[in-house]
This record gives sequence, C-alpha cells and structure tokens, in this order.
Amino acid sequence: MKILVTGGAGFMGSHVAERLLRDGHRVAVVDNLSTGFAENVPPDATLCRADIRDEYMTEVFERERPDAVCHHAAQLDVRVSMIDPLFDADVNIRGSLRLMDLCVRHGVRKFVFASTGGAIYGEDRIPASEKDMPRPVSGYGVAKLSVEQYLHCFHVNYGLVYTALRYANVYGPRQNAHGEAGVVAIFCDRLLTGTPATLYGDGGQTRDFVYVSDVVEANALAMNSDVVGSFNIGTGRETDINRLYGILAELAGVVDPPCYGPAKPGEQRRSVLDCTLARETFGWSPQVSLDAGLEKTMTFFRDREKETRK
Ligand SMILES: NC(=O)c1ccc[n+]([C@@H]2O[C@H](COP(=O)([O-])OP(=O)(O)OC[C@H]3O[C@@H](n4cnc5c(N)ncnc54)[C@H](O)[C@@H]3O)[C@@H](O)[C@H]2O)c1
Repeated sequence: MKILVTGGAGFMGSHVAERLLRDGHRVAVVDNLSTGFAENVPPDATLCRADIRDEYMTEVFERERPDAVCHHAAQLDVRVSMIDPLFDADVNIRGSLRLMDLCVRHGVRKFVFASTGGAIYGEDRIPASEKDMPRPVSGYGVAKLSVEQYLHCFHVNYGLVYTALRYANVYGPRQNAHGEAGVVAIFCDRLLTGTPATLYGDGGQTRDFVYVSDVVEANALAMNSDVVGSFNIGTGRETDINRLYGILAELAGVVDPPCYGPAKPGEQRRSVLDCTLARETFGWSPQVSLDAGLEKTMTFFRDREKETRK
C-alpha cells in the first residue's frame, strides 16, 4: 500500500513510518517540521514539508495517491491547548478534518488516528476502558475526542474505515526532551546533562507508560485491519513519577534527589488504561517491560548526548 504518514518527522510518526516501510509499504511523510526533524524521516520515505491545514494538501493527495493515512501530526502541548484553544482546534480538529475530507474524495481505504487515552478519560474509573464516558478537561483532549466523533460520522456517511488508537504515555528513543510532554525524555535529558529535574507536586501522580515499539505494533495491526472504532493502547500498569525518576536516576548513575515544584493546577492524579479491547480485537498486547523500555531509552539519549559533545 501507499501510506501517507502525517507527523512522520516526529517521535512516533517516524517509528511508525520505519515499520510500515519494513512491512513492504511505500511511505510519504507529511510534516511541517514544527516539532519534528527532517533527519527523523526514514531515507526510503519521501518528505512533503507541508501543514495539514493547508490547501496544498489537495496537491499532496493528487500526487501521492495514498491507499491509507496514518495521522500523527498534532499540536500536542496540553498547556497550549488551554492558553490558545483556537490554535489547538485549528491544528487538531480543522487539520484532521481536511485530511478526512481528502480521504473521502480520493477513495482512501483506511485512516489510523493517533488519539489519546491520557487526556480524554477522567478519574471516574481506574483503569479507564473504552466503555467509560470520556470527560476531557483540556482543549487537547476535547479536540482528539472531536476527531474521533468526526471519524465515526465519516464512517457512517461515507464509509471511511478508521481505527483511533488512544495512547497512554508513550516513551522511547527520539521523543522530544524539550517539549512540554514526554516526562521520560525530559528526565533522561536532565539526568544526563546534570540539570536538576523537577517533579510537580509530591510525585505520587501515576501514569501508564507504554514503549514506542508496542505502539508501532498497534499501528501495524490497525493498518491491516478493517475493524472500526477506538482502542486503548497502554500497559494497564500504573507507575508513579517518583518511581519513574528513581529508575531513570539509577540508570544514569545519579544519586541526587529530584527537586519538587508546586503541583500543576488541574493535573490528573491517576491515569491508566484498560487495554483488553485491543487484545481481544487485534491480538495486541504490550511486550516491553517498563525497566527494559527505560533502559533502551536511556541508552538512546546517552549515545546522542555523547554525539553532541564530540
Ligand atoms: N507522546 C505521547 O505520549 C502521546 C500520547 C497520546 C497521543 N499522542 C499523539 O501522538 C501523535 C504523535 O505525537 P509525538 O509524541 O510523536 O509528537 P511529535 O511532536 O514528536 O510529533 C508530531 C509531529 O507532527 C508535526 N506537526 C505538528 N503540527 C503539524 C501540522 N499542522 N502540519 C503538519 N505537521 C505537523 C510536527 O512537526 C511533528 O513532527 C500526536 O498526534 C499526539 O497527539 C502522543
């Protein structure tokens, strides 16, 4: 298949693009390089430097003629979605809508969407399952859920086949350590550069950390399936930030305790996903343990740090 991977110069999109190429697909990446890097794009993929909101996307679809779209491009800073909700909605809702519309016009067979589990469920039920009522409390979460609703609407009205993958907290090599998201990448960077890492609140807040190769596998399975709907992609395990810091500090050989800062207003205390539906539907389950994933991630950041010092 010819697959258009949006956000393919970013962390997850680039790993997904690599995997799709390995599976024998042809890949074109669309990315505006706002947070991504051209060097992340695999050499066998073509890079169209474009914004998903732009009218130029019509030309991209006419030229590339994709059979499927794997949509990872997004504004993913939750804080920005609250300070500038119009910008967030413009990229995350209007940009996604442009892609869906083009998919229908060009007879695209499959749409895989990078949604979120962490930002659309509240804390009413732990772990959160797809059956639970989504209660997003950020513009980012509302936007992701809106796109899922549009996908359902486009499926019912135009037959667009889609899978929305509701990711937990994804981590791994190439994650941006300088953004707002990505606590694992931020801690790795701070620990390796001797910069103090700050934990907000008491560090007892929990998250569900899933390694990027497991997320890539979910994308590969979703791409080859005609199953329509939304699926949680996480581990079902809660890890608190103190423990996460402890593991990473040990891997980095740092004995200093972290700094503690004021709790972030409105931050969720617990977040973990029930991933039974993805297992039962696609046979997907996470394979990489937290310890193994964190070790691989730390090795990546350590190697990169050595490279930049040369
Ligand atoms: N990292 C996580 O834990 C996590 C969790 C849930 C969902 N997600 C979703 O997964 C996707 C990928 O996230 P990531 O962590 O790889 O982030 P990332 O920032 O590394 O990747 C996003 C990519 O999209 C590109 N982009 C942004 N706006 C664009 C636009 N208007 N037009 C074209 N390209 C644009 C960026 O340049 C970047 O390369 C996003 O949709 C994000 O919302 C991520």
